[in-house]
Amino acid sequence: MQTNIGKKAAGEKAAEYIKPGMTVGLGTGSTAYYTILRIGELVRGGLDIRAVATSAQSEELAREQGIPLVDFDKVEKIDIDIDGADEADAQLQLIKGGGGALLREKIIAAASKEMLVVIDEHKLVKHLGKFPLPVEVVTFGWELTFRQLSALGAHPVLRLKDNNRFITDNGNYILDCHYQKIHNAPALHTQLNNVPGVVENGLFLDYASRLIIGHEDGSVREIT
Ligand code: A5P
Repeated sequence: MQTNIGKKAAGEKAAEYIKPGMTVGLGTGSTAYYTILRIGELVRGGLDIRAVATSAQSEELAREQGIPLVDFDKVEKIDIDIDGADEADAQLQLIKGGGGALLREKIIAAASKEMLVVIDEHKLVKHLGKFPLPVEVVTFGWELTFRQLSALGAHPVLRLKDNNRFITDNGNYILDCHYQKIHNAPALHTQLNNVPGVVENGLFLDYASRLIIGHEDGSVREIT
């Protein structure tokens, strides 16, 4: 049975990289959750930082934890961004967006000097693609975007939540694209983002600087 021990170990380890005075990007999901809890403890113990959140969900959690938040548009540079991933390979390429927050996550990752990625061991893969690739699309004409992605062999499926269309924090839809195995991630990234209606896709290819992998026994391994 899979537990949360690996996620917790990785999530908490990442918080060790935070130094006083830093502006920190707070990721989204069940692994970044542990990082945010740990940061909360550190802040309550006197650590002086400020943070920007990659989703409404993380913002709420950070607020509950007493972590000082700043608006993204007031921030010049983020020192460190700590976020989860749905899949990662040893070259630090990622699939993200399982929680639907990929657009803000990518904007914040791109604005960060460093991105630490926290995953449990099950998410480290040889080839990206088994996890369906989330693609965020505008609602206007989404059926056309869907058909264009289908024609490109993406096998898209409109994401639902509780039988309704899932809506992102930015008011868009998500099409989960079923590739099974992604052969040329940079080419696919460009191809997807060239389709009108696509806002962003969940391939994060040149962002991560460190992968922090938590194991079921509580140990942590890092790849840089
Ligand atoms: C949110 O949209 C995602 O990119 C998450 O970072 C990713 O899905 C990992 O989430 P978990 O840590 O919950 O698996």
